[in-house]
Amino acid sequence: MRKYRKREHIENYLRTTYVGNPMFEDVFLYHNALPDIDFDEIDTSTIFLDKKISFPLLINAITGGNSFSEEINNSLAEIAKTFNIPMAVGSQTIALEDKDTIGSFQCARKIIGDGILLGNINGHTSLEDAKRAVDMIEADGMQIHLNPAQELSMEEGDRTFKDVLLNIEKIVNGLEVPVIVKEVGFGISKDVAKKLYSIGVKNIDISGFGGTNFLEIENLRTPDEDISELFGWGIPSAMSLIEVKALEYEDLTIIGSGGIKNALDLVKCIVIGASIGAISGELLSYLVHGGYEYAHQYIENIVYKSKMIMLLTGAKNIEELQNVNYRVTGKLRELVDYDK
Ligand code: FNR
Repeated sequence: MRKYRKREHIENYLRTTYVGNPMFEDVFLYHNALPDIDFDEIDTSTIFLDKKISFPLLINAITGGNSFSEEINNSLAEIAKTFNIPMAVGSQTIALEDKDTIGSFQCARKIIGDGILLGNINGHTSLEDAKRAVDMIEADGMQIHLNPAQELSMEEGDRTFKDVLLNIEKIVNGLEVPVIVKEVGFGISKDVAKKLYSIGVKNIDISGFGGTNFLEIENLRTPDEDISELFGWGIPSAMSLIEVKALEYEDLTIIGSGGIKNALDLVKCIVIGASIGAISGELLSYLVHGGYEYAHQYIENIVYKSKMIMLLTGAKNIEELQNVNYRVTGKLRELVDYDK
């Protein structure tokens, strides 16, 4: 069942037509007419999970579990290695149950070498299985996804959401690698961020609304049970980022994802609060529609244009980019609550 679902997720993701809004357009960055930097001086490297990466972008969790997934993971790992950026595999739940599928996850480690590779499990996974998932791919960190909206929209989905925080706490305390808690496209509110931080979570991927929409993906799998009125559900990525950043947890690494499509979205994510951004859907589209070269070129473009935008804001490195001044306009201004 899970094997087919993996493929259906990718196929149905590519069929989605609903266009959400992560609200990056309501973030205004000042133009700096006197940047006092040479283009070649721009340094996009940064530290993520104690390792140096060349660019602040994570290839976020997508897949694993069948031969089609293996092909995708191979290409994504190749891109991650080429650009020296981190990558996450998709949910390893299937591989914890069916050892025949393990190879479709391990292939990424073989290619990425000593680059950063993240595992992916759900909030109910036991500590023991979390350890197995780490060992399976020699993970540098473990993502735990929170996806109640997606589960509820699946006929066969989970209906039990109690004690997930307690379980995450056990994993955080028992695992030797850092834990990253993430959403899958509906956002992390500041109250949820506070709860996660209170149990020791030091990395949160807000994965907000505006990009991949699992309510629509699941709706396409079971069209007779229409849930289209809920397609607008979720916290826009820009709002989620600003509110979690406003909590001022100095040792919390915030990852910005959900609807990042281009360099300007990514740069804005970093200006408003993220240490690094992450992309799933848009990269997957490039890969499936145009193959490896097309996907490679897409990331190359993002790197080049991010440097352009950094120069135009007057930031010569990522630390300076995180301190660039910005304004919030339009609906985002109405929505954002800066209170702690
Ligand atoms: C995902 N995502 C995801 N997340 C996760 O934690 N485990 C998973 O197995 C998957 N699987 C998956 C499959 C497909 C086809 C897509 C497009 C996405 C969610 C992903 O990591 C990310 O949080 C969201 O997609 C939002 O980012 P984008 O796609 O808008 O850049």
